[in-house]
Amino acid sequence: MRHLIDIMDLSVSEIDEMIAVAKDIIAKPEEYCEKCKGKKLATLFFEPSTRTRLSFEAAMYELGGNVLGFSEAQSSSAAKGESVADTIRTVGAYADIIAMRHPKEGAPVVASAKSTVPVINAGDGGHNHPTQTLTDLLTISREKGRLDNMTVGLCGDLKFGRTVHSLITAMSRYQNVKFVLIAPEELRIPEYLKQEVLVKNNMDFVETTDLESAMPELDILYMTRVQRERFFNEQDYLRLKDSYILTPDKLNNAKADLAILHPLPRVNEISVAVDEDPRARYFEQVLNGKYIRMALILKLLAEAK
Ligand code: CP
Repeated sequence: MRHLIDIMDLSVSEIDEMIAVAKDIIAKPEEYCEKCKGKKLATLFFEPSTRTRLSFEAAMYELGGNVLGFSEAQSSSAAKGESVADTIRTVGAYADIIAMRHPKEGAPVVASAKSTVPVINAGDGGHNHPTQTLTDLLTISREKGRLDNMTVGLCGDLKFGRTVHSLITAMSRYQNVKFVLIAPEELRIPEYLKQEVLVKNNMDFVETTDLESAMPELDILYMTRVQRERFFNEQDYLRLKDSYILTPDKLNNAKADLAILHPLPRVNEISVAVDEDPRARYFEQVLNGKYIRMALILKLLAEAK
């Protein structure tokens, strides 16, 4: 049984193939509208979500399938103490594929070990968010026409931001990618990621606290929210939450073809005035999330046959 727990579960050629399928869906949606007729997707969200859950559900509906599930742990039997393993075995009796978000890192691995149907990690704690990464890669590919030969700035909460961890891991497999890691000292990327991905793969990267001086060299600026829900101490969150606020004046020195991305939700880190800038591509990124999840559902269901 094929699952998607970590972006490294997919080879580069599989990712490239899914991006191609997503682009084909965008070009010819009518050819895909019955591909999942008779199939059911379960969305099990033990943590809040807008984009990931709804884009999975929209994806399955647009493939002609159906959707069931829950959007909070409290409305499931997890509230009565049921384990993830038992929940997954139960849901496998009702659905053909499962997308699961859970606050505990590693919960999707436990789920996949017990599941009789494909399990997709829709975000586990501060760990991984592989389908956001697929969304980001499709967006970069559509914006730039390539996934190699570029400088990617990642700004904000690089410690707890699971989308950042998955994106760095994924882009480290493409040629000539440089990372500029922009974060307050306390929110720098975890040491394990630096050593096991960046250093081990001999990647070109710099760490800085200064967004404005990094701006001119960036092809992609990936802004992130400070992850309040991962802090142990509210005072630390309040002190760090506005470390970076992207405003139109800060883009004066940016490239004309910069693409500004953000996994969303945003809080303060991108001023709404930036939304008018044609380089702001985060709402296009939202739409890409639906198309790449359609490609993923098709792939995992085909492999489960
Ligand atoms: N990007 C993302 O995961 O958004 P949601 O938390 O709204 O799903």
